[in-house]
Amino acid sequence: MNDTRMEKLNKATATLKDKLPEVPEIALVLGSGLSQAFGIPGEGVTIPWSEIPGFPLPTVAGHAGQFWAGEVSGKQLLLQRGRTHYYEGYSIDDVVFATRLFALLGIKTLIVTNASGAINKDFSAGDLVLISDHINMLGTNPLRGPNLGDLGPRFPDMSTAYSPRLRKLAKEVAASTGISLKEGVYLATLGPSYESPAEIRAFRALGADLVGMSTVPEVIAARHAGIEVLGISCATNLAAGVDPKATLSHKEVIDTTKRVGDAMRRLITAIIGRV
Ligand code: HPA
Repeated sequence: MNDTRMEKLNKATATLKDKLPEVPEIALVLGSGLSQAFGIPGEGVTIPWSEIPGFPLPTVAGHAGQFWAGEVSGKQLLLQRGRTHYYEGYSIDDVVFATRLFALLGIKTLIVTNASGAINKDFSAGDLVLISDHINMLGTNPLRGPNLGDLGPRFPDMSTAYSPRLRKLAKEVAASTGISLKEGVYLATLGPSYESPAEIRAFRALGADLVGMSTVPEVIAARHAGIEVLGISCATNLAAGVDPKATLSHKEVIDTTKRVGDAMRRLITAIIGRV
């Protein structure tokens, strides 16, 4: 089992490497609607996931499925446009397939973004939030199964999963560019239904500020492989029940990412220059 998983990853990595103009230093994952809002950062190479053998292809509306590689703020960036979610029915190995390609390409820094619901009552729809830590409520872990020892240890530490160094840097960049950046704990649930108000009250009691359906598997897989991680969430809506009169919709999520996509792009572009 180990060998087949590694063989598949190595084959995909070799194919991707051949298509890349330069060795990337930083990977950036853009989630729900954010890849649309962010756009293509400039001249570079686009690589559809369908051209990479073994790559799991996504199904949800609003999620592109390609890499873009090129220079951003003087750094070689590999941009992942769209992601694979566990709720789509993929295996947890497939959910972190791209993350493991980053590790095998030698990428040392991963910037993950997502859309989330705001549990913290001090947050508003449209806030950009630095992820300080996570709570994994997916009911699984991407490291389940025989350890991929070529990538990392059996029991990796998650004490500083969201790099204190990169968080400090992100705060400095936000302050100097005048972009407001809050900070909070992200809780991952399976989805795809949004949470019930009772679940949101429970998650708040557990210490969560944000809720979403992604990111945590990728961060665990990245930390397993020794990649430094920065997470930035766009709180696209108040979580269920926070505003008792509101209902939740994917349209609101996409509309908010469109509204704050430019601030997110400016913030991340400036961060990349200083990583
Ligand atoms: N819940 C879960 N995932 C989400 C939400 C939410 O309220 N908003 C955006 N992604």
